[in-house]
Amino acid sequence: MGNWKDKIAVVTGASSGIGAATAKKLADEGLLVVLVARRLERLKKLAEEIFQKGGKAQVIIADLTREKDRARVIQEVTGRFGGADVLVNNAGLGWYGYGAEMSWKTAWEMLQVNVEAVAQLTLGFLKKMRERGSGHIVNVGSISGSIPSQGVALYGATKSFLDNFTTALYRELRGTRVHVSVVRAGPVKTEFCETALQRENGMHVPTERVGVTSEQVAQRIWKLMLRPRRVIYVPGWLRVVPWAELSFGWVIDRVGPLLLRKQKRADA
Ligand SMILES: NC(=O)c1ccc[n+]([C@@H]2O[C@H](COP(=O)([O-])OP(=O)(O)OC[C@H]3O[C@@H](n4cnc5c(N)ncnc54)[C@H](OP(=O)(O)O)[C@@H]3O)[C@@H](O)[C@H]2O)c1
Repeated sequence: MGNWKDKIAVVTGASSGIGAATAKKLADEGLLVVLVARRLERLKKLAEEIFQKGGKAQVIIADLTREKDRARVIQEVTGRFGGADVLVNNAGLGWYGYGAEMSWKTAWEMLQVNVEAVAQLTLGFLKKMRERGSGHIVNVGSISGSIPSQGVALYGATKSFLDNFTTALYRELRGTRVHVSVVRAGPVKTEFCETALQRENGMHVPTERVGVTSEQVAQRIWKLMLRPRRVIYVPGWLRVVPWAELSFGWVIDRVGPLLLRKQKRADA
């Protein structure tokens, strides 16, 4: 069981959804949270809420599509605190529709935030964690990374990257007190689907009305920090998904296209 009181947690994408709920939870548990995202007003409001409850928070505005901003997050946190004890790579964006209709602008942004930012921030903070002999990197992945699905071709691939990256680092660090984990989440009720829909040629995400709450995910992340593991599923029953892909991928090959076509017609 880790003692996280007064430790430094960097949470990306803290301006809404899972990131905001996780930042609140970690602040409630006594960590100083560094809130990272683009929307200043939202981060200021969240920091204020945390102060009111006696917690500690700092804000860093960063556009994670920009390499310079990502480097500045690492520099500022290292300069102020000597490094991060916890890094929650949560910022991410999605898009639903036919891959052939996805704009390069959306694809590029997704690759920058979902993949490159995770790689740069992880490598930027991991070295100090290893030197100190403690730390935890939590990557907010998705069940889409375990089951290639029509409609989320690139998004699912970015989340497969997270699975692979996490597992490899976990194996490198096993036996040390530095942990790397991935949270394979199913649908969560946040602004995620709305943001995806607003992008060029975006369709409604079929699961937009279902899902667990951000607070439930935040609670699971906190438990994960207390008992580190390589992977957790939220909700837990989703652990059957990788097995289902292996056993029944051929069914999805047939049914998947029909479901996407149906959604396309519903959106028309
Ligand atoms: N909701 C779901 O169903 C679901 C399911 C599985 C996994 N996930 C994963 O959970 C994570 C959080 O998503 P969410 O559901 O909480 O969605 P959300 O409410 O839309 O939050 C996304 C967060 O990412 C930040 N972000 C996006 N682009 C950014 C950029 N260029 N620079 C900095 N920050 C950026 C946003 O902040 P700003 O806009 O203020 O920059 C926001 O705080 C994502 O990685 C997502 O893939 C979500």
